[in-house]
Amino acid sequence: MKNIIAANWKMNKNIDEALSFVNDLESKLGELNNSEPLIFPPFISIFSLKNLCKKVKLGAQNCHYEEKGAFTGEISTLMLKGLVDFILIGHSERRHVFNESLELINKKILSVFESGFYPMLCVGEKLEEKESGKTIDVLEKQLKTAYKDVDFDKTDKLFVAYEPVWAIGTGRVPILEEIEEIHKEIRGQLNKIAGKSLSENCHILYGGSVKPSNSSEILSKENINGLLIGGASLQINDFFDIIQNSEKINK
Ligand code: PGA
Repeated sequence: MKNIIAANWKMNKNIDEALSFVNDLESKLGELNNSEPLIFPPFISIFSLKNLCKKVKLGAQNCHYEEKGAFTGEISTLMLKGLVDFILIGHSERRHVFNESLELINKKILSVFESGFYPMLCVGEKLEEKESGKTIDVLEKQLKTAYKDVDFDKTDKLFVAYEPVWAIGTGRVPILEEIEEIHKEIRGQLNKIAGKSLSENCHILYGGSVKPSNSSEILSKENINGLLIGGASLQINDFFDIIQNSEKINK
């Protein structure tokens, strides 16, 4: 299974900056054996980047669950057709800054699957939840509600990013054993929700303060199938170094 090395650019980079980044990255990337680079740019750059992307896959950072209508400022899955492979759903900033509810996240997940994209669902506990020993309960609830009513006969590939809220942009990372343990737990939960063993079709990424200096040790763990990177994905050298590190890890 290849390591998915995903960049979440959030609200950073204008179109020129995005184009120049992807141009440089595509020219630096040689043959990739163990890595699948993926970028989630802001919406406005997706169309221009599409033609530049050869080895890099594209994703959207969000979407609305309706296909069209009176939803000022929103983007639908219908508009993203042919432009992206993945749509990020339930990122911590969407949940906690924009107050997206579990129900809204479920509606988005259903709509993304229905439209033929892969949702990359982000889950993660807040610091107070971790400190009060609620991490597993929180994750279980986020996973169960997000995939409610998903038809697993039609859908067998799942992409989940485990991103502890307290690790995002803080420089704090859980200890490796803890990440591995939680990924194992998430894998078990997903098999339970799907009612079958997803094995190779279940991709669980880690996100939260990933840097070139910690990427190899995180990726080397058995149940970690990729990385979702915010801050360090904005610098081409850092992002490229993380891809190079991933190339050395064959799982
Ligand atoms: P970070 O962000 O790498 O800057 O911690 C990760 C994310 O929010 O996806």
